[in-house]
Amino acid sequence: MKLFSDDGGEIESGERKRIRLLQKEIKEYQKEYYENNISKVSDEVFDALFLELKTLEKQYPECVVSDSPTQKIYTPQQTVIQKTKHIVPMISLGNAFTDTDLFDWEDRFVKILEKEGVVFLDEEAPRYIVEPKFDGLGISCVYEKGKFVRAVTRGDGEEGENVTENVKMISDYSSSLSSLQAVDKYADLETFELRGEIVMRKSVFSAVNAQLELDKKKVFSTPRNAAAGSLRQLNPEITKERNLSIFFYETPLPSSHLHFGTYEKTLKFFEKEGISHSKEYYACNSLQEVLSAIQTISDMRDGFDFDIDGAVVKVNRYALRNIIGATGHHPRWAIAWKFPAVQVTTILEAVEWQVGRTGVLTPVAHLKDVMIDGVKVNRATLHNLDYIQEKDLYIGDTVLLERSGDVIPKILKSIASDKKNPISLPDVCPVCGSVTIKNTDEVALRCSNEDCPQVLKGKLEHFVGKKCLNIKGFGAEICDDIVEKKLITRFSECAKIYSFSVSEWEQIKNFKKKSIDNMLLALEKSKKQPFWRLIHGMGIAGVGEKTSKTLAKSYSNFLEFSHISNRSLENLKNIEDIGEKIAHEVITFVQKEDHQELFLALESVFHTRNFENTAESDAVKEGFLYEKKIVITGGFSQFTRNELKELVEKNGGSCMSSVSKNTDILLAGEKAGSKKVKAEELGIKIVDIDAFLLLIEAEK
Ligand code: IVH
Repeated sequence: MKLFSDDGGEIESGERKRIRLLQKEIKEYQKEYYENNISKVSDEVFDALFLELKTLEKQYPECVVSDSPTQKIYTPQQTVIQKTKHIVPMISLGNAFTDTDLFDWEDRFVKILEKEGVVFLDEEAPRYIVEPKFDGLGISCVYEKGKFVRAVTRGDGEEGENVTENVKMISDYSSSLSSLQAVDKYADLETFELRGEIVMRKSVFSAVNAQLELDKKKVFSTPRNAAAGSLRQLNPEITKERNLSIFFYETPLPSSHLHFGTYEKTLKFFEKEGISHSKEYYACNSLQEVLSAIQTISDMRDGFDFDIDGAVVKVNRYALRNIIGATGHHPRWAIAWKFPAVQVTTILEAVEWQVGRTGVLTPVAHLKDVMIDGVKVNRATLHNLDYIQEKDLYIGDTVLLERSGDVIPKILKSIASDKKNPISLPDVCPVCGSVTIKNTDEVALRCSNEDCPQVLKGKLEHFVGKKCLNIKGFGAEICDDIVEKKLITRFSECAKIYSFSVSEWEQIKNFKKKSIDNMLLALEKSKKQPFWRLIHGMGIAGVGEKTSKTLAKSYSNFLEFSHISNRSLENLKNIEDIGEKIAHEVITFVQKEDHQELFLALESVFHTRNFENTAESDAVKEGFLYEKKIVITGGFSQFTRNELKELVEKNGGSCMSSVSKNTDILLAGEKAGSKKVKAEELGIKIVDIDAFLLLIEAEK
């Protein structure tokens, strides 16, 4: 039955009203449940309401709106982007700029193949695949039984940020790969990984920036920055609006390599399966053919609606790739041909001084808008005062500007100048207004205020960061917010983070019940951190990880540490590894009145004691790593480099970056390359991660 109002318009029937109410109510329950961990109604009631809505919507299909809970899976807003480890580390590519680089690259891997008795020239065609090098952000998408399960950014190569919900918002991504669900033929691809690049198309970039400008918001400087900013969003709806694209180019798991045999066949599979990839790719059989493919791609560059910064040349057959292997940083079976940087001229209109998180002031050039590679550029870094003087730059100069791929544009030189308007040094810090200083022994200009909000953000980030208190989820954005909301105004107040009330935490952007609970838990956990991490967290000049450990061993707790006096200078200098300069820095830091207050506050939170260190050092004396020099190389799926380094040090060893005759042990991960070869030549003990862990365990 339809009802009409006096003016002839349709008014809602009871059912329609009920549908709208249910849609609204269910969404609210979902929001509370997913974001704040609160169940406002029991599961039974929720299910009954959901069923009622579904039934009513069936009767009144015209009431089904696209964001009805029945149509759309609820996408929770995250408060912190979680970190996730890659199954296989994501390494980057080596570069080639000239034909010679390319021939040298081929020589290197052909030699490796020859050692294994493989003649590259005898291999079946095509030997190479050449494709565009996308200028975006590397992404890994994992599928289980053909169903998309997660997407992780490159991060440090070992672990990246989990951006699953955001990638679901990109129309090019496939939520399910139907072939992989055909159990028999693809049983070996139960876990399947796609790697690719997320980019923002140039046309989308212009539209996004135009809208941002209309909204009086900061615009993005390059499509790549725009892609990064749009992907790393806590709210996936923003990612959706930004209309990103993906191009896939690798399947890194060994099972896929066995399955497909060659990259060419993998690309055919992509085509069949509708997996977004570069339509332009070239199968080549010699480097001459590779060079002409690169030229073709280069000629097409401006015509692409996405930024590319080169071409990637890859060995086609996976069996060969396996033999050729990788160095610690990049595969030997592929190389990136980088296009030469594009140069343009523009005017240096002004110089702005920006304060970094260490208090250093960096000059940034404001340039007259200029297009490079279809991208508008109006900023360039000038690094420091020396750089300005070396290039003899003045305001108003016509300057030569270069942008090469993902690199921030740089000024190469001034090509016309009337030398009337010199670049002046700021007397005061643009953030806090304190006077600036320039130490005679450094190039940098600094803010003299050690509690300058910008510096404070950096200090707090260091204190809570991975190498100090390692408080999970306490990232830079939270530190910035704490300082901006003036919850902490001096570094000596940093112990306050342990006593913030819920209402104080609620002032942090996107912090709701669940994130506050997680934060409180992480803070509690951090109270068990060893004493040296706290000392490191103080950010005393020259006191890094190693010195912090040494200092922690010499004092029983923070209170004892705080009683270092001038008379202790000699004692301090006598401690191994601590020279006059560091001893002086430590004493000056410790004796400051507000630092004394800080130590008291920290002591009452941590009850610091150095027995962890003593216990550590006693236990490790007999350990198999005691006083051993270890080199770590290759990829490890279960550990980050930092974790392994800590494990080595905890067991009395120390890590070195290169293999020499003094190296005791080489810990070799996946695709260990030249270091392993060198260790073999020098007859150094080589262990894999399983043997390494067993040896440590056996010593306990
Ligand atoms: S293959 C083992 N192919 O460039 C590395 N990478 O500078 C295999 N990239 O980390 C990567 N386009 O993020 C490959 N067609 C392409 C690429 C590509 C862009 C990125 C990738 C890589 C970076 C290295």
